[in-house]
Amino acid sequence: MPSTLTAARTVAVSDTAPIVLEARELKRHYAVKRGLFARPATVKALDGASFAVRAGRTLAVVGESGCGKSTLARVLARIETPSEGALFFDGKDVLHASPEEQRELRRTVQMVFQNPYGSLNPRQKVRTILEEPLKLNTDLQPEQRRERVLAMMAKVGLRPEQAERYPHMFSGGQRQRIAIARALMLNPRVVVADEPVSALDVSIQAQVLNLMMDLQEEFGLAYVFISHDLSVVRHIADEVMVMYLGRPVEHGDKDTIFTRPRHPYTRALLASMPRVGRHDGPASAPLTGELPSPMNPPPGCTFHRRCPMAQGRCAIEVPASRPVDGRLVACHFAEQVE
Ligand SMILES: Nc1ncnc2c1ncn2[C@@H]1O[C@H](COP(=O)(O)OP(=O)(O)OP(=O)(O)O)[C@@H](O)[C@H]1O
Ligand SMILES: [Mg+2]
Repeated sequence: MPSTLTAARTVAVSDTAPIVLEARELKRHYAVKRGLFARPATVKALDGASFAVRAGRTLAVVGESGCGKSTLARVLARIETPSEGALFFDGKDVLHASPEEQRELRRTVQMVFQNPYGSLNPRQKVRTILEEPLKLNTDLQPEQRRERVLAMMAKVGLRPEQAERYPHMFSGGQRQRIAIARALMLNPRVVVADEPVSALDVSIQAQVLNLMMDLQEEFGLAYVFISHDLSVVRHIADEVMVMYLGRPVEHGDKDTIFTRPRHPYTRALLASMPRVGRHDGPASAPLTGELPSPMNPPPGCTFHRRCPMAQGRCAIEVPASRPVDGRLVACHFAEQVE
């Protein structure tokens, strides 16, 4: 794989499914103006994420509000270009591909957003919404497109006559089914779903999650599943990546992360989720204090000011992500977290 960044560790678990997406030291910084006369500042929304996603598997991305999950999603779905780092789809270097290759690679990764109403054009019928990707990207004839649209609608549990309706005529759960169908029209390998069920009633959430899991099985899809709800993550994930202030701090398979977390932040996050914290994992104090600003992150380990285990070294030295006890973890004292 051609890259100058081969040193970054991206694989957290020993799984033999092929890698379909790989990120190496991916960054997305934003220049923001704080006032009329102030110099522009830099928001390090995503500040060095390395990980791999395997075919047919779900990588859940978790972390507090503002830690960079949606920024990561937009970069993976190529809605935004990373400021630094490398991105590979099916082993191909996305950022250095020719324009034709880029077009082809873009289809590999599709996105589902939290708010299906905002992401669906209210003036278009479902048929038009689902047909559009085919019109723009394939040579299919109108009749073939029609067939594909109806076939995909059936797969996500919508009836053929609903093709002639507009998004506002559907419930939230049905709208998310339409958004999922649209994401799948071009046979992607990876779907990046940013809080896809957070806006739905709890009773509907399970239906949409089960649909996503069925579609994953049928199409061999990989999911990057972003959620702040650890009970949802526990239901759907194979691997979990915990982010803090723009960087992954712990990444491993679901059971490892839920039952034997080794990063103090992961432990605190689990402890602050009552349903999860009560049932498993070691006891730990829930999180206190606020997430620092990504405009002015603390030196050393960015978690040190909130960390119950912090020592002098943590304020100075940035901890590298390294394998400890079957997962990747970025903490100087990960071995001592029992
Ligand atoms: N376009 C932008 N310009 C400037 N700052 C931005 C921009 N987009 C995001 N940010 C900042 O980057 C940081 C990460 O934002 P992001 O939306 O990725 O977080 P998140 O983890 O998705 O949060 P949430 O759980 O609330 O959705 C935040 O501090 C946010 O204010
Ligand atoms: Mg977000």
